[in-house]
Amino acid sequence: MTSPSPLPHPPELTTLPEWQAFVSATGQTHRHAEMLRILPAASLHIDVSAQPLSPALDQAASDLLTVRGFEQAREALFAGLPVNVTEQRAAWHTMLRAPAPIAEVVQARQHMLDFVHRADTERRWRNIVHIGIGGSDWGVRLAVAAFGNTGVWRQIRFVSNIDGHAIEGGLAGLDPHQTLVVVASKSFATAETLENARRALEWMRAADVPHPEQQLVAITAQPQRAQDFGVPSAHIFPFWEWVGGRFSLWSSVSLSAALTVGTDVISGMQAGAAAMDQHFLQAPPVSNAPVQMALAGIANRSVLGYGSLNLAVYDSRLFYLVPYLQQLEMESLGKSVDIGGQAVQVATGPAVWGMPGTDAQHTFFQWLHQGSDGAPTDFIVCQHADHRWPGHHQQLLAHCLAQREALLRGKSYEDALTEAHTLAPDDPQRQAWLAQHKTHTGGRPSSLIVLPRLSPYTLGALLALYEHKIFVQALIWGINPFDQWGVEFGKNLASRILQEWAGATPAAEHDASTRHWIDTLS
Ligand code: F6P
Repeated sequence: MTSPSPLPHPPELTTLPEWQAFVSATGQTHRHAEMLRILPAASLHIDVSAQPLSPALDQAASDLLTVRGFEQAREALFAGLPVNVTEQRAAWHTMLRAPAPIAEVVQARQHMLDFVHRADTERRWRNIVHIGIGGSDWGVRLAVAAFGNTGVWRQIRFVSNIDGHAIEGGLAGLDPHQTLVVVASKSFATAETLENARRALEWMRAADVPHPEQQLVAITAQPQRAQDFGVPSAHIFPFWEWVGGRFSLWSSVSLSAALTVGTDVISGMQAGAAAMDQHFLQAPPVSNAPVQMALAGIANRSVLGYGSLNLAVYDSRLFYLVPYLQQLEMESLGKSVDIGGQAVQVATGPAVWGMPGTDAQHTFFQWLHQGSDGAPTDFIVCQHADHRWPGHHQQLLAHCLAQREALLRGKSYEDALTEAHTLAPDDPQRQAWLAQHKTHTGGRPSSLIVLPRLSPYTLGALLALYEHKIFVQALIWGINPFDQWGVEFGKNLASRILQEWAGATPAAEHDASTRHWIDTLS
């Protein structure tokens, strides 16, 4: 049978001698960051010195990439071939930021620019209510939080959750006559988004807005559904099935951000992402930042057994980077069956979690330092800040470097004992006991990603870095990073419960606990 995929149909990873070589090379790596490995990429510097990478691993990794068809797969991705094999679609987000994109992308971009230009010149819409969820939400939140609300006269609210408190809070205090409701949904079928959009319409009608539909905008790959919903066709901004939801920030989904932080932010982010695309396409594997991060991630997860990846973002403006990357990583890599339909015999995508530092240090860093599992950590920081307190930035940088050093270096029992001498000078038994508590294993892997400063360009490059890292990891594991059947499954079960409550379907079979709560909470 021929494979429906343009990618080579992969044999299960653990059957490959190249994988065995990768595993044994990882085992030989001593992680003391004695060898500097700092990779410049699209104005970022990615320091992977404290990762389980080594010259021995480079050779094994190169063989592994070759046997997995890395170059052909990368080519297929950028050529817009259907790399999303289970849905028979391309995942062509790189086209959305290409310097010379295809005509339909140029046209959609122009439509968006014209709309924003007109709204700005006419000073229309004091408020934007952005309604969308997952990939139709996080990226816009991220861009707005990162670059502030420059239009002092225009504010933005986000409504994603089906929880009625979300839409209630999202609309509270706004003048319905001055509000543009932007509904972003690739499928235009997501229950949360459509329900919230209906509430927003009702809210405008209740305030006697003369033409509430004229205050609706839709961003979608299903324009007909948006039209059926009542959105005027001039207010429908299309994108395409070949743009995955979690990659859709690069499409017209960024409209709400363009309306609040400016179109330059969007084009700057696209330029940064395009520069990272070029780096990914051109740099040899050993100096290719997404490739090296991917290899480190695989060694950490599948060989060294770390179950999670921590994101320590030392920039409070990047608060939404964690959920953004959580979705990107976990929807993409939360798979355990390979493209050939076989169970992958190693652990795949890690749980991704985190918080901006230094808050994170006072929340869960204790667990990273001395907990029984530990987690590889990506430290992300800007060399220069944009506020007027250089002392604050120096402290931030010092904390970031120190945490990373502590995780790597650890503290030996002997060093802890020396410390304990001063704490309990005349009590050797207490000294030994304290020293046990103060010992840190160390050797915990991390990367340090340094942005020269936070700009649309550097943020765009950072997001593309993770996209490509994830692509390479999926390729090596042999999984499809572009579908999300698990999310679909949960959605279907929820609608079945709703149908049961509505009496539209006979009671289905449920486990005893679900049955109990369906009966109790209805
Ligand atoms: O969470 C699952 C998901 O399908 C994401 O991939 C997507 O970003 C989100 O739902 C929203 O989907 P849509 O844009 O179609 O409303």
